[in-house]
Amino acid sequence: MSWQASVLTLFPEMFPGPLGHSLAGRALREGRWGLDAIDIRGFATDRHRSVDDTPCGGGAGMVLRPDVVDAACEAALASGPGRPVVALTPRGVPLDQAMVRGFAEGPGVVLLCGRFEGIDQRVIEARGMLEVSIGDYVLSGGEPAALVLLDACVRLLPGVMGAAASGEEESFSSGLLEYPHYTRPTNWNGLSVPPVLLSGNHAEVARWRREQAEMLTRTRRPDLWARHGSDNPIALDGQASAA
Ligand code: ADE
Repeated sequence: MSWQASVLTLFPEMFPGPLGHSLAGRALREGRWGLDAIDIRGFATDRHRSVDDTPCGGGAGMVLRPDVVDAACEAALASGPGRPVVALTPRGVPLDQAMVRGFAEGPGVVLLCGRFEGIDQRVIEARGMLEVSIGDYVLSGGEPAALVLLDACVRLLPGVMGAAASGEEESFSSGLLEYPHYTRPTNWNGLSVPPVLLSGNHAEVARWRREQAEMLTRTRRPDLWARHGSDNPIALDGQASAA
């Protein structure tokens, strides 16, 4: 049984979307992973087919109903039990590569795409959902976030990307941002490639890349740098780049 993603959404036509192209699309057609987009509205029970209602306690917006969401979860899990149910929401825990790796190593995921103001808290708790955010900004719905999460997982599945994925993954797992890349022509519009990269000296190239990665991480992502430093105490006193 291949890795299985079920997406609970009011817009099933948004899937597979970009994931139907390139390597993820080929892997989908080859059956290396499976995707079913489930229309939440199909689980509405009243004659208006309503999926949401006004918030208890008042306020703006609408809230997804627990009974409808629960029935949609039940249907998804019937075709692939034992998968984590993940609700995409800006108030979730931030998605990172370690979480992605955990999902990719499991049997798959059930993704609930929020719309409106939110999801009734009772069904979040009753289903033991993990609330996940892809960043500190607000999308109009969870669907683009679900596509992001799936893309990050699918590229790690066996046979999807080959060695390229594991190489990049490893470099991110080191806790540093990637060093800059260059290719031919070695002189472009008067701009040349850093000479060390043309020197043929592998140790010097490795040292330069390490220094660049550390500099980029320190300046662009002080949060990552602080964590990297505490995981690798030697990096804090500058010794790592000289190693
Ligand atoms: N839905 C709306 N905004 C989101 C975000 N930043 N992450 C995940 N789901 C969302």
